[in-house]
Amino acid sequence: MCGIIGFVGREEAAPILLDGLERMEYRGYDSAGIAVRSETKGLQVKKCKGRLRVLSDLTHGGADLEGTLGIGHTRWATHGEPNDINAHPHVSENGQIALVHNGIIENYLEIKEHLMKLGVTFTSDTDSEVVAQLLAFHYNECHNMLEAVGRVLRRIEGSYALGIVCSDYPNALIAARKDSPLIIGYGENGNFIASDVTAIIKHTRDVVYMGDGEIAVLTADSVDVFDDEMLPLEKQHSTVDWDVSAAEKGGYAHFMFKEIMEQPEAIRKTVSPRIREGRVVLDDVSMTAEYVRDISRIFIVACGSSYHVGMVSKYNWERLLRRPVQVDLASEFRYSDPLVDEHSLVVVISQSGETLDTMAAMREAKRRGARTLAIVNVVGSSIAREADDVLYTWAGPEIAVATTKAYSTQLVLMDLIGLYLADLLGTVEKSEYDAILAEIQALPEKLQRFLDHFEDVQYFASRYFNHNSIFFIGRNLDYAMGLEGSLKLKEISYIHSEAYASGELKHGTISLIEPGTLVVALGTYAALFDKAMSNVVEVKARGAEVLAVTTESFREKMEKTADATIVVPDTHPMLQPSLGVVPLQLFAYYVALQRGCDIDKPRNLAKSVTVE
Ligand code: G6P
Repeated sequence: MCGIIGFVGREEAAPILLDGLERMEYRGYDSAGIAVRSETKGLQVKKCKGRLRVLSDLTHGGADLEGTLGIGHTRWATHGEPNDINAHPHVSENGQIALVHNGIIENYLEIKEHLMKLGVTFTSDTDSEVVAQLLAFHYNECHNMLEAVGRVLRRIEGSYALGIVCSDYPNALIAARKDSPLIIGYGENGNFIASDVTAIIKHTRDVVYMGDGEIAVLTADSVDVFDDEMLPLEKQHSTVDWDVSAAEKGGYAHFMFKEIMEQPEAIRKTVSPRIREGRVVLDDVSMTAEYVRDISRIFIVACGSSYHVGMVSKYNWERLLRRPVQVDLASEFRYSDPLVDEHSLVVVISQSGETLDTMAAMREAKRRGARTLAIVNVVGSSIAREADDVLYTWAGPEIAVATTKAYSTQLVLMDLIGLYLADLLGTVEKSEYDAILAEIQALPEKLQRFLDHFEDVQYFASRYFNHNSIFFIGRNLDYAMGLEGSLKLKEISYIHSEAYASGELKHGTISLIEPGTLVVALGTYAALFDKAMSNVVEVKARGAEVLAVTTESFREKMEKTADATIVVPDTHPMLQPSLGVVPLQLFAYYVALQRGCDIDKPRNLAKSVTVE
C-alpha cells in the first residue's frame, strides 16, 4: 500500500527520492517523508502529512537535504492516523537508524511493550517505528548491522519491505522483504530499491526482484543479496521492457483517462501474441489435456475489480466448459476451509500481483493440493512468482488507483483461457470457437470506434453528476458488468452506488427507488434483453430516471423506454462486457471530474492492497 524507495550513489539522493515517490504516490498518499545522509550533515529527516507536493515544497524540491544516500516513503495509514509524526522514515531514539516500511508488523505491540520496559521512548503510533527501535537495540548489542537486521527479522511477524540507513554506514543502504514487494535497480550512477518499477524506470531497466526473507546491502557500486541465513545469493536479473512514457500522463489530464483510452491497444497486446493460425496458444501454461479433463471444479479467486472479472468469467466459462466454476472473494476464500483438492483448478486474478488476500488464498489452495493459475499484470510480482502457471495481461503500467485497462485485459485474457480450456475439453463447437475468436480479435477496433465518439457519456455525466445515490441493474453478464461500473463510480466520485441483479430488485432494493433516483440500466446481454427491459419499466413506473447502456441492435427498443441511452457496438454475447464497461468507466470519470474529485488518487484507497 505504501511506496518505498532508496538510493545510494554518486548523485544527490533527495531529488531522486522525491521523483520516485511522485511516481509511486498512487500506492499511498496521506503523508510522505525522506531521510538523506551526508558526511557533513549526518542523517537529515523531513516528513509531513499530506501529498508529496507538501514534502517537496518543504524541502525545496529536495535541495535542503544533502547527501547521496537516502530513503523515502509515501504512506497509506494503517497504524496511527496520517500526521507528521506517524509519517516515515522512522528514526531510532538515539538517532542512529532511519527506516521506511511497507507492510504490517503483527506483533508490534508486544515488542513495543518489551522495549518500553527497557526504557525506549516511542514518538509515533506506528508499527514501523517499533522496527527502527528494535533494530537500534540489537545493533547496539552486536555492533554489526547485518547481524542486527537478521535478529530483527527473526523477531518480527507480519509483512514488510524495509529500507534502512544507519549513520555508522555512510555508504550503505540495507533492504529486506517478506510478503511486500521490493525490487533492486542497478543504475549507472548508483543503485536503488523501490516498491515498484515505476519509481526507478527513469534511471534503470536492470532490476532484481527480491524474494521473501531476503536481505540486500547496496552501495554505489555493489549489490549483495543474502538469504535468511545470511548466505549470499546469486539473483537473476530482469529487464523492464516498457517505456518511461508509459508511466507518464503524456498530455492527458489524468492517468485514469489516459488508461481508458489505451484500452484498445492494451487488449491488442494481450490477445495478438496468443492467437496463432486461428487457435488460442498459451505457451506459458503447462497444463496437459489430461490434467484439464480431470478438473472437477474451477475456482476464481480475487479482490475488487479483479473479482468482478471473475464474475463475468464464471458465466462465460460455465457456458463454455460445462464445469462448475465458483468465484470467491480472496478475503473470504482464505478463511472458508475451501473444498479444494488436487482435482481443483484455482485461478487467481490480480493486477498488482501483490494483493495480500489473493496471495494468501493462492497459498491456501496450493497447500490443499490444487493447481494454481495466476492472471497478473505486474511482471515478477509475488503472485506471479508463486503460482504454478502465470499468464500476464500486458496492460503496461497502470497508475490510476481505479483500474480500467488492467480490468479490460484481464477480461479478454480470461475469455481466451476459457476458449483454450473448452477446446481441450471438446466442449465447444468449432464454428462457435471460430466466431468467438474472430470477435476477440475485433474488440480493439470496436472499442476504438466507441472511444472516438463518446461525447454523449460526457453529456450524461454533467446531467447526472449531482445525484447522491445511483443503482446499476442488469442480468447475467450485465449484472457482472454493473458491479464494476458501480465500483468505479463510488471509488472516484464518492457517490453511494449499488449494483443489483435486476431480478433481485423486487426483493428489497426497489423500495429505495423514488421519483428522480438514477438507475443505470444495462441491456447489452441479448438473451435476457426483454427480461431486463421489464425491470427498467418497473423502476420507471416508480419515478426513476433511467440511463441505459445497450448495443446497436437494441438501441431502438431501449430508446423508447430509457431517459438517456448510450450505445456500444455489437459483438459476441460473451464479449459484450468488454465493450459495455467502457462507457461506465467514462461515466464515473466525468462524474468525478464534475464533482472536483481527485480522480487518480481517490481518498482512503490504494492501488495495491498489501495488508489484510
Ligand atoms: C485495490 C485496487 C482495485 C483492485 C483491487 C485488487 O482495491 O484499488 O482497483 O481491483 O485492489 O487488486 P489486484 O492488484 O489484486 O487486482
